[in-house]
Amino acid sequence: MIANTREAGQGVVIAATGLFTPPHTITNRELVESFNAYAARENARNSAAIAAGMAEPVAESSESFIQKASGIEARHVMDKASVLDPDIMAPRWPERGDDELSIMAEIGVAAARDALDRAGREARDVDGVICAASNMQRPYPAIAIEIQQELGIDGFAFDMNVACSSATFAIQLAADSIAAGNARSILVVSPEITSGHLNWRDRDSHFIFGDVATAVLVEAAAHAGTDGWMILGTRLKTVFSNNIRNNFGFLNRASPETMNTPDKLFVQNGRKVFKEVVPMVSELILEEARRLDLDPARLRRLWLHQANAGMNRLIAQRVLGHEADEDESPTVLDRYGNTSSAGSIIAFHLHSADLRPGDTGLLCSFGAGYSAGLVFVRKAA
Ligand code: COA
Repeated sequence: MIANTREAGQGVVIAATGLFTPPHTITNRELVESFNAYAARENARNSAAIAAGMAEPVAESSESFIQKASGIEARHVMDKASVLDPDIMAPRWPERGDDELSIMAEIGVAAARDALDRAGREARDVDGVICAASNMQRPYPAIAIEIQQELGIDGFAFDMNVACSSATFAIQLAADSIAAGNARSILVVSPEITSGHLNWRDRDSHFIFGDVATAVLVEAAAHAGTDGWMILGTRLKTVFSNNIRNNFGFLNRASPETMNTPDKLFVQNGRKVFKEVVPMVSELILEEARRLDLDPARLRRLWLHQANAGMNRLIAQRVLGHEADEDESPTVLDRYGNTSSAGSIIAFHLHSADLRPGDTGLLCSFGAGYSAGLVFVRKAA
């Protein structure tokens, strides 16, 4: 367990955030139509085996189940046509040449530029880039270094992955580097192309994810001036679990016959995740708030990980001591879906401008690993 506390006024701030939202939206209706067309085709193709009791038919998906079980109504994707085509059901884009910007770098740069513009910063003001996301499109050179190059940053960059907690873990890392004097300003960029690792043919999970990119500019308070959000403390926790898993990796090549089995995409036991992660995260928040001498009931806003509306309701209730309204715990899951590590950052980005100096809030992620990351912040000027 690693914890970190900083005194307000002398430490590290979130100077600004940035967001890139892909142009295409898929509604639950469009998604379910496509899935059910696929199910009908599969069942027609296998009709003899199904009639003979040798195979199970593919069950239909339903809009009302998705909405009720998850709170998701739509999601954004980088490629809509191929994802909805019952013959493909996966994103497809032409492979880019080595001298072209990769797709993850492209959307990461868009989010990073948004954050820099909002903070009124230039590339020369930044010392480092961390690309923190739940999947990288290649192992090397790091996507973060490509983003650094495209932005023109003189410094260092690296990729890291803690699944849905990648961004909050990277914020702690950035804050620690800055507090130690190793950098003044670090961009945490989370390009999440989740459509690439979602199994769009799996009825239990085909509705979960959406694509997006976020960026968080973390700076030394002295460098940032009076704006932004003081980081009061951060806390990270991991506990091993197989309940969210993806076995895709470079060693799969060694066994070509299993390379494309469904475990090489996202798989989960959603019900267990729900039950086990809610208490783990709520207790972690209460414990860390006590350590920072913060009254959890007085947290002005919770920007929670966006995976399931019911989970967020329960966590917010345990932390605040009452049922949270949209103002206290805003939802972006309904229109963005689960965007992995970017979810709590989108919630913060879209729902923080109205807070007043002195207001205290919490960015909180949780997901595969299991992992959970907390960043307590206080609005400065
Ligand atoms: N359409 C219609 N019915 C569906 C369906 C779909 N797309 N998917 C599953 N069902 C059915 C199941 O077959 C099951 O039927 P049964 O009761 O006859 O067996 C029933 O709905 C309930 O399925 P279950 O998987 O238990 O649903 P749930 O209430 O647990 O909701 C999740 C599923 C995924 C929305 C929910 O568990 C969740 O969000 N968990 C947290 C996940 C999480 O945070 N993961 C982190 C990811 S990074």
